[in-house]
Amino acid sequence: MIGSGFFMTPRFYYATCQFGAEKTVKDEVLRAHPSLRFAFSRPGFMTFKEESGEAPFIQNPESIFTRVWGESVGQGKGEDALQSLIPLIPKGSVLHAFERDTFVPGDEPEGFVQNARIKKLMESGGLQGFSNAPRVGEYVFDLIYLDEGHVFLGKHLHQDGMEPAPGNQPLISLPATAPSRAYLKLEEAIHRFKPECKAGTRVLEVGCAPGGASTAMLSRGFKVTGVDPKRVDPSVHQNTGFQFIQKTAKTLTRDDLKTANPEWLVLDMNLAPLEALDEIHHVLELLRSIHGSKLALNKGFLTLKLNDWKFASSIPLYLKRVSELGFRDLAAVQLCSNRQEFFVYADSFK
Ligand SMILES: C[S@@+](CC[C@H](N)C(=O)[O-])C[C@H]1O[C@@H](n2cnc3c(N)ncnc32)[C@H](O)[C@@H]1O
Repeated sequence: MIGSGFFMTPRFYYATCQFGAEKTVKDEVLRAHPSLRFAFSRPGFMTFKEESGEAPFIQNPESIFTRVWGESVGQGKGEDALQSLIPLIPKGSVLHAFERDTFVPGDEPEGFVQNARIKKLMESGGLQGFSNAPRVGEYVFDLIYLDEGHVFLGKHLHQDGMEPAPGNQPLISLPATAPSRAYLKLEEAIHRFKPECKAGTRVLEVGCAPGGASTAMLSRGFKVTGVDPKRVDPSVHQNTGFQFIQKTAKTLTRDDLKTANPEWLVLDMNLAPLEALDEIHHVLELLRSIHGSKLALNKGFLTLKLNDWKFASSIPLYLKRVSELGFRDLAAVQLCSNRQEFFVYADSFK
């Protein structure tokens, strides 16, 4: 209590993230915002406390691994969990109902339906009269199913670049014919960053097997040169838009790449980040020596693996290395389809 009898009400923030990324989010947020204290965590969800409600509001934490960030409104527990929160949601608000992550993407058991439990709860609670399509600049109320009998309510600002769908998660499904989940990563990156995607775009994909991302690009009419020591799926290999170089990136020669002048470079190698970037350095040196100022490269789609979550603290170093390679206008994010990895989009190349 302060002398005048005035109480400082603490403010609570919440963050959602991928199952498993909680410690990384916590480290990122507390490093960037030392006035916050970690408060509560479940897989895929956590809260932070700001002692002083007078502190400047944090609209965007500096966090690559946070999906949704907002201010806590309340939480309900027990049988009436939902009913106790409904009065806190103004009529006519935008409402997003979703569940915290309960599996690493790709590890969901057969028949798992994301958000099935919150949908059931909403139906039984007769929750109606809300829009779920936010406009940029509008607040969204997030009703988050944490556990059986525990529902959380918060609100976040819908900002440019965010998905209008609940949980900032785009609705992209994996076609049965895609050879790998990497299809989703490429689709999600295109969906989020909206690069121009004209048929005939030339791509060099390093770490292309078995061919999920190539499938996404070939279906857009792109011309893909894929590099990987492993085999690619026959559906990709036989596609006339695909050329395969079955090698590791570091063993590529000028001869291998002499007909490739890619506009995009896609990297998805299961190597530690600095090792993968070293191999890309070799590839870029070859391309520069072949094409000089005529090198067409102008976009990068780089998946960097965190073989250990503790590598996340070296992300500033990885981004520095990415920009030393020539990639510019970088945006780093953990895509919803990423596993223990993160993604860097480069909107230009020098
Ligand atoms: C996550 S998978 C790639 C998935 C692929 N992008 C897709 O869309 O299906 C990682 C790949 O990196 C490849 N890889 C590992 N080391 C490599 C290297 N030095 N050069 C090229 N590819 C490499 C592996 O053989 C593996 O196929």
